[in-house]
Amino acid sequence: MARYEIHGGTPLNGTVTISGAKNAAVAILPAALLVRGTCRIENVPDISDVRILLDILEGMGAKVSRPEPGVVEIDSSGEIDTQPEDTLVKKMRASYYLMGALLGRYGKAHVALPGGCNFASRPIDQHIKGFEMLGADVDYTSNYVEMKPGEFGLQGSRINLDVVSVGATINIMIAAALIPGQTIIDNAAKEPHIVDLANFLNTMGARISGAGTDTVKIRGVESLHGGTYAIIPDQIEAGTYMAAVAATGGNVLVQNVIPKHMECITGKLQEMGVRIIPYDDAIRVQSTGKLRHTTVKTRPYPGFPTDMQAQICVCMSRASGYSRLTESVYETRFFGYCTELQSMGANIQINNKTATVIGVDKLYGANVAAHDLRAGAALVIAGLVAEGTTNVENIHFVERGYENLIGKLTALGAEIRRLED
Ligand code: UD1
Repeated sequence: MARYEIHGGTPLNGTVTISGAKNAAVAILPAALLVRGTCRIENVPDISDVRILLDILEGMGAKVSRPEPGVVEIDSSGEIDTQPEDTLVKKMRASYYLMGALLGRYGKAHVALPGGCNFASRPIDQHIKGFEMLGADVDYTSNYVEMKPGEFGLQGSRINLDVVSVGATINIMIAAALIPGQTIIDNAAKEPHIVDLANFLNTMGARISGAGTDTVKIRGVESLHGGTYAIIPDQIEAGTYMAAVAATGGNVLVQNVIPKHMECITGKLQEMGVRIIPYDDAIRVQSTGKLRHTTVKTRPYPGFPTDMQAQICVCMSRASGYSRLTESVYETRFFGYCTELQSMGANIQINNKTATVIGVDKLYGANVAAHDLRAGAALVIAGLVAEGTTNVENIHFVERGYENLIGKLTALGAEIRRLED
């Protein structure tokens, strides 16, 4: 079992470079299955979710190579197996995008239900509804999703999502790119990686408009061609480093970011008393010594991301007074890390969807375990803040989404190492 050992109490200083966005990469890589030609994809993060996905694509018959660090080339011109290997599919959440990709390319798919972070019940009914509206005959069991064209074949359609779902919006966009006719997704999610996926597919010849608004329109095309595309920087990785600087103190230039994507996070950190200076593609985060309490409610983009809930909770633990943190996307998300933070001395009271966080003078090192990716990142931040030594276990969760976490934090002055027991 691997763990992080952290000696806390050192402020972070220096420069950190943000990697390509995990949630964009895990959508764009399966979408490359639609393309008859070579996709050169740049700024791909080297994280375990990406490695698993590339293994899956290779196993399905795509030619995958990594000609240089951060670059992946995928050639899906040959025959592609419509039944990816179950054990790999179950290792991660975003493998469900293989459903949309296979439906779009072949009109059929047999894909096991995904695994990944289970910080809440994570239904896929809106994905299934979308596939059915596109004309698929869907057999959805507790183990897999199997699809074939329905009686009237596959055809573009108007789909109104009952909940704003990132995954359903992406899966429908991927499938509809090659399905004849126009598909309109109403009540679509607007996250930056949705725009990134649309830009990738359009670079390869798709006709998608409206990504980043409530209504996405996809005009199905006959085929997609190869091309080169660079993935956007990771909003949540950047936010995690910003929260770490806020919590530990210090002064860090976070570079390779899109400041517009960070506004909901920078706004909250400014409210808490952190000095933020945005540049064209970087943000300086400077501690002013003390953190003030604040109120945060997570919401779909452009609101405060649920994937930053746990990290901001650590900042609140170090802030003066009572902060309020309300989760409106995944209600049970607090349970993945609050008990661990409490064992480090944090004062957090949870009442349904809202946590009241009462700032404390100190956090103390402890042995804690990550229960999901972002919870793990928050525990690392808590360890950096805490007096004494913290051991974070279950770090495979963290390694799913943070490229070179140890190297980046060490370069900022943190005392953290990865140990294999
Ligand atoms: C994506 C992100 C994840 C982030 C989440 C919310 C990826 C790979 N993962 O997850 O990091 O935490 O967005 O920003 O991009 N829902 C349904 N039915 C569905 C789909 C979703 O009821 O068919 C509900 C969910 O339970 C949740 C809400 O909709 O309450 C949002 O979920 P969704 O946006 O789909 O999250 P994911 O795409 O799984």
